[in-house]
Amino acid sequence: MSKRIKLGVLGGGGDSLIGVLHRVAAYMYDKYEIVGGVFNPIWEENIGFAEQIDLPTDRIYKDFDTMIESELKLPKEERMEVVSVLTPNFLHYPMAKKLLENDFNVICEKPLTTTYEEAIELEKIYKEKNKVFAVTYTYTGYPMVRQMKEMIAQGELGKIHKIDIQYYQGWINPIIHDEKLRKNTWRLDPEKSGISCCVGDIGTHCFDMLEYVTGLEVKELLADFNYVYSDNKMDVDANILLRFSDYVKGIIRTSQIATAEENNFVVTIYGQNGALKWGQENPNYLYLLQEGKPQQVLKPGHPYTKKFSLDGVKLPPGHPEGIFDSMGNIYRGVANAINKESIYDEAFPTLMDGVRGVKFIEKAVESATNGSTWVKF
Ligand SMILES: NC(=O)c1ccc[n+]([C@@H]2O[C@H](COP(=O)([O-])OP(=O)(O)OC[C@H]3O[C@@H](n4cnc5c(N)ncnc54)[C@H](O)[C@@H]3O)[C@@H](O)[C@H]2O)c1
Repeated sequence: MSKRIKLGVLGGGGDSLIGVLHRVAAYMYDKYEIVGGVFNPIWEENIGFAEQIDLPTDRIYKDFDTMIESELKLPKEERMEVVSVLTPNFLHYPMAKKLLENDFNVICEKPLTTTYEEAIELEKIYKEKNKVFAVTYTYTGYPMVRQMKEMIAQGELGKIHKIDIQYYQGWINPIIHDEKLRKNTWRLDPEKSGISCCVGDIGTHCFDMLEYVTGLEVKELLADFNYVYSDNKMDVDANILLRFSDYVKGIIRTSQIATAEENNFVVTIYGQNGALKWGQENPNYLYLLQEGKPQQVLKPGHPYTKKFSLDGVKLPPGHPEGIFDSMGNIYRGVANAINKESIYDEAFPTLMDGVRGVKFIEKAVESATNGSTWVKF
């Protein structure tokens, strides 16, 4: 029998944005095989997609409940060991909860849940069950993000005093300015998306990234949201001030109406002795800024990079490491954890990171709806 981890997939069908990223990542290190799932709630689409990607159809189920019931009837060695939850946000909680309760490992898309209360409930079950649970903050898997994290942890920037994270997209422009379209997109529907659009969708990446690379924790925040139209109740743009302590501050600038921006996620960390700047659209270049010295460009795969960074690289320098590779590193970390092989502590974001991410969304919404006041974390 194959030694590969048996992976089930929920959502991520042919009509989805994120499905292909997870499928490629799962196969990247030859550690998983997809054995079934529910790709789409419409049966013809669901089975049609499974056939299209050449999966056996005996374990393509009509819905999530049927999947769990049927999988539990299989002998343990044949059963799905881990399930990826790639559905719209409101389905993450009921799916992840039932999966954990029935002893499946879980890989869940962000945001973990649509409310903090649900996130805490998952945390409780997770602590009882001792299963592996990853939340796919995709960008943490890039080699140069790992490099940033290690350089900061080893004190190479000195004391951090300013953090600036920008995540600018423009894709929602044609939707938000069309009255019909803005009422028909799940990301702008609180029932499906949760209480926030922009901050829930991409602000949460900023928050996770800054805590991941610096090891610092946000203590207070103040958020100002833009909804653009009075009939739209969901933020599409936000500026969020952050306080880590009296002398360490930061800002998250995030937007889905930044006209013509693509996926312009830029992380800048300023310390007493230098700064690091990394952008998702050119992820192989990590810029090191130091007073009185020419700017340096650090790149993946070189012996001068940290072990954790090198661990995330497959080919010699000069072969670009992209978003598929970043997600591939997260999937490999999860596989190693399931197989109880040694892993780097921060090889993948966990349920606890997901819980903090949801808390961040709620706190930002609380601040914005209270007239942009400071809110304690
Ligand atoms: N990590 C990242 O960088 C990143 C990027 C994009 C999206 N996401 C997250 O991934 C999730 C999905 O986003 P998307 O853009 O792919 O959405 P999407 O709308 O493009 O796709 C959703 C998929 O879920 C399927 N689906 C819906 N209801 C279902 C059900 N009841 N059972 C099974 N399948 C069902 C749909 O058919 C579709 O295939 C969201 O939570 C989003 O926040 C994460």
